[in-house]
Amino acid sequence: MLLSLDKIRKVYRPGSLSVEALKEISLNIDKGDFSTIMGSSGSGKSTLMNILGCLDTPTSGTYLLKGKNVSGFSKNRLADVRNRMIGFVFQNFHLLPRTSARENVELPLLYSDEKLSWKEMHKRAQEALEIVGLADRFDHTPNELSGGQQQRVAIARALVSKPSLLLADEPTGNLDSKTSLEIMNIFQQLNNEGLTILMVSHEPDIARFSKRITILRDGRIVSDRSNEQRNAATALENWKDETELLEHS
Ligand SMILES: Nc1ncnc2c1ncn2[C@@H]1O[C@H](COP(=O)(O)OP(=O)(O)O)[C@@H](O)[C@H]1O
Ligand SMILES: [Mg+2]
Repeated sequence: MLLSLDKIRKVYRPGSLSVEALKEISLNIDKGDFSTIMGSSGSGKSTLMNILGCLDTPTSGTYLLKGKNVSGFSKNRLADVRNRMIGFVFQNFHLLPRTSARENVELPLLYSDEKLSWKEMHKRAQEALEIVGLADRFDHTPNELSGGQQQRVAIARALVSKPSLLLADEPTGNLDSKTSLEIMNIFQQLNNEGLTILMVSHEPDIARFSKRITILRDGRIVSDRSNEQRNAATALENWKDETELLEHS
């Protein structure tokens, strides 16, 4: 098992005006899982992702990550776990403007305790950009890239530290449907190579590319089931067919 949550609660502003965002969440994720967390706005998805990503700590409950109880870790130790084990992808890409794709991807390596040379950092960043199909865009800045390309740079940045877990909060929320399929195709390829992926989405069309769908409602898990995974590469092929049909009609 890669990670395990046991009775995780998160209360914001404990006291009279408190919000209980997570109510005794228990969840196990195995290595190689590809899970989508769904739920309406305010159901606790981002709160759960922040705890899973060691960006925030639970009010109570236990979070075991690779067998380590990280729920009681200090901010510094959490940051260390985060840098070594977790890659993040966000809806709004969060890239540095006026900074090349390669430099954006290198950034996490500057903070890593791997102590790589500049040459090694360049190599790692280039490899990560090649994985997401951006070998020809190393020197482009975000404003010279499409939304889909920017998200691919963000995925490369998440991969460059070779994480055990990829967390993606609404990764296709700002992308058109075809570009979303391309992102799901990259996720499926990475997952097939063994990367564990946890993604938040409110779009059923996106969730069906994952292996498992967990539904949150009002801070509780109300459904958690395996999903017959749809193949994104096939969906992309079919997409091409559809546009050709339009062109020839
Ligand atoms: N920093 C915060 N302080 C107080 N309440 C918060 C905070 N973050 C989230 N909440 C509340 O916690 C609940 C869950 O929020 P969130 O995890 O962002 O849901 P989702 O991502 O599913 O939309 C909501 O009621 C929200 O208003
Ligand atoms: Mg959210």
